Amino acid sequence: MNAFRIRPAVPGDARVLADMLVEAANWNPVRTRPRVTVLDDPSVRHYIAGWQRPGDFGCVAEDAAGVPVGATWARLFSPSDPGYGFVAPGVPELTLGVYPHWRAQGVGRALLRELARMAAARGHARLSLSVQRSNFAQRLYVSEGYVTVASGEGSDTMVRTVR
Ligand SMILES: CC(C)(COP(=O)(O)OP(=O)(O)OC[C@H]1O[C@@H](n2cnc3c(N)ncnc32)[C@H](O)[C@@H]1OP(=O)(O)O)[C@@H](O)C(=O)NCCC(=O)NCCS
Repeated sequence: MNAFRIRPAVPGDARVLADMLVEAANWNPVRTRPRVTVLDDPSVRHYIAGWQRPGDFGCVAEDAAGVPVGATWARLFSPSDPGYGFVAPGVPELTLGVYPHWRAQGVGRALLRELARMAAARGHARLSLSVQRSNFAQRLYVSEGYVTVASGEGSDTMVRTVR
C-alpha cells in the first residue's frame, strides 16, 4: 500500500479538482468524453466554476512527494441551478475522484471520511451526491452511510447524515 496524506483543498487546487470532475464524469470507460467537452458542459462545469467560492470545502489526497492523487469537495447549489444530487438548499453536494493509478488503495474512502468530518465541523447536517447505479462507487457510498433518497433513470441521489 502506498502512503498518502489528506489536506484541505485550497483555491490553487482548481486544476486537480477539474481533473477529478472529469474522472467522475468519465467513470464508465466505455462512455468517455474529451476533457474539454466534459468541462464545457454546463451541468458538469458548475461543480467547479469559480472554485473556491464561499461555502465550498473539500480535501485533496497527496502522495509522499506532495503530488495530488485524488480529491473530494462539496458545493452548495440552488433550486434554480441544481446539481444532479441536489436535495435541498443548504445540503452540500459532493464530487469524488481518484487518479486511475491510485485507485483501490483506500484513498477514496479516506477522502469521503474526511469530507464528512469537514462538513460536520462547518455545521452541516447532511451531504448529498449523485451516482450511477452501475458504478461500483455506489457500494462505497453505502458502506460510508449514504442512503438513496431519490432515483432517476440509471442513477440515484444519496444522502448521509454527518452529525
Ligand atoms: C470511486 C473512486 C473515487 C473510489 O476511490 P478508490 O480510492 O479507488 O476507493 P478505495 O480504494 O477507498 O476503495 C473503496 C472500496 O471500493 C472497492 N473497490 C475499489 N476499486 C474497485 C473496483 N474497481 N471494483 C469494485 N470495487 C472496488 C474497494 O475494495 C473498497 O472496498 P473495501 O474497503 O471493502 O475493500 C475511484 O474509483 C474513482 O475515482 N473512480 C472514477 C470516478 C468516480 O466514479 N467517481 C464517483 C462518481 S459518483
